[in-house]
Amino acid sequence: MCGIVAYIGPKDIPSVILVGLERLSYRGYDSSGISVMSNNDITTWKKSGKLFNLSNVFKTLNVNAQLGIGHTRWATHGVPNEINAHPHLCPNKKVSIVHNGIIENYASLKKDLQNKGHIFRSETDSEVIAHLIDHYFVDSLEDAVRRACKDLEGSYGLVAISEQDPNKIVAIRNGSPLIVGLGKQDNYLASDINAIINHTKDIMFLEDDECVILTENTVTVTDLSGNTLNKETQHIAWSPEDAEKGGYEHFMLKEIYEQPTVIRSILSKHINDNKINFKHLNLDKRSLSKIGRFIIQACGTSWHAGLIAKYWIEKFARIPTEVDISSEFRYRHLLSSGNEAVIGISQSGETADTLACIREAKSKFFKVFSFVNVKNSSIDRESDGVIYTHSGPEIGVASTKNYLAQLLNIYLFSLYFGFSKKTVSDSELAGRLDELSQLPDLIEKCLQLNDQLKVIAKKYASSRDFIFIGRGVNYPTALEGALKLKEISYIHSTGYPAGELKHGPIALIDANMPIVCLCPQSDTYDKMISNIQEVKARDGKLIIIASEGDDSFNDMSEDIIYIPKCSQDLTPMLSVIPLQLLSYHISIELGCNVDQPRNLAKSVTVE
Ligand code: AGP
Repeated sequence: MCGIVAYIGPKDIPSVILVGLERLSYRGYDSSGISVMSNNDITTWKKSGKLFNLSNVFKTLNVNAQLGIGHTRWATHGVPNEINAHPHLCPNKKVSIVHNGIIENYASLKKDLQNKGHIFRSETDSEVIAHLIDHYFVDSLEDAVRRACKDLEGSYGLVAISEQDPNKIVAIRNGSPLIVGLGKQDNYLASDINAIINHTKDIMFLEDDECVILTENTVTVTDLSGNTLNKETQHIAWSPEDAEKGGYEHFMLKEIYEQPTVIRSILSKHINDNKINFKHLNLDKRSLSKIGRFIIQACGTSWHAGLIAKYWIEKFARIPTEVDISSEFRYRHLLSSGNEAVIGISQSGETADTLACIREAKSKFFKVFSFVNVKNSSIDRESDGVIYTHSGPEIGVASTKNYLAQLLNIYLFSLYFGFSKKTVSDSELAGRLDELSQLPDLIEKCLQLNDQLKVIAKKYASSRDFIFIGRGVNYPTALEGALKLKEISYIHSTGYPAGELKHGPIALIDANMPIVCLCPQSDTYDKMISNIQEVKARDGKLIIIASEGDDSFNDMSEDIIYIPKCSQDLTPMLSVIPLQLLSYHISIELGCNVDQPRNLAKSVTVE
């Protein structure tokens, strides 16, 4: 997905847009561009590569403009070069647009417009929007944009300006997020709050098929037919500092170290007088009691959280729970016995695959609720109920604090649901909540492993492959450790259920293969010991995560990472922290871009 920023007002247009694009660069960063309007004339600059290539242009340029639009790209159609960078223009009516999403019928539209004499320059789907607006332009930019969108199929958050209607910015949302920022004598548009929170906290969230017309002093929202809509403005609680690095070298490291604070905040939000509550779940106990099966669907790290959710929901609430990867869920023959609930898990709340499943499930009348971090995101708004993960803005592409927040919220939900079904007794609930009150301190202790992980990272950074193994509730932790490493260090790494090693993967073990073994105290501890022996016998390089005080491994490896003792159900929330730190330090060792790894984006809003 991509990042969009637009501004109309007296401030310096390039600097407002460039600062905003920098804050959105985690959404995509392979090229960028700006169009500004000055004296009814559009000027456009575009650069491939990182945003500083574009920013450097303005170091020696004084631009006097009244409005502008900007874009940072994550390429879908067309290589990430300058021609394919946004904004895209149509020369006739001097229309310039930026777009986030995919136009699925762009090829037929492009062919039709070419037959009408339009000359295209890029390989992108987005350029067709500029030409379509031009084609329909009579005397109002908003009319032309609304008319053009009726021909578009696919997803778009698009923003347009034109020399023919030079004192306004027009935008339309359909499937890709767009928010409006209201200033005192100026107005903003952006893909998300981070881009403009340093200018205004008064935000309007556009819904699908809503069009907004911005001038310096007015914000008008209409439907696609031009009927004016009344939209409420929300005042955002976040501070600009939340979207800053706060003295850390990288957002990822800041977010790893924020985890104890995040956990404390979640516990205080959901636990009062030793009772768990969820304000926005919109599922009363009667509705909960009717649920006979859960189907969880998510992507990436959120899917790993879903796999752990299965263990906890089945253990505490005794409800059968399946877990699907979102992009697979949609294509299965979903059978309903009328008592299922679908759960979506998403940090961004904008992941297209997960959102599509929410819509599919609702079209089949499933009850749908979601764990989501970004309020007013599409998944938030389209679920019947939500549990906010409350991790605050997560900027690093590799999810860390929000993963832990997902796990804690899911753990609390499992206890809450079990308690409401009386499969969790008062005394068990009290005991679990008492242990949870110590969780922030236990996480603080895990963060003290940082120096040890830095040493281990140096030792293994040149490895070509990594294997992670775990059992039970820590099998998903092995998957998460592998994903963290591969996405920020580009080392091929795979997580396996430890019991699966002997069914094939053990052929990969040799003296060059580091294997991270998750072996805290648990019901499967003895089986894990056997798996570690199997690896040792084949000269594999063991990195072992064990519980404090366990000296069983002293003669097997010099790289033993001790996490604090806790009940086995909590181990996924502790054992993942050394894996986050390991991947971070290996990435640094290899000189990779930790916060903006190649080819990735923070939220994938295309299917
Ligand atoms: C996690 O480190 C990855 N960046 C990625 O797998 C992510 O978890 C996935 O794209 C799902 O995103 P979401 O939680 O915003 O839906």
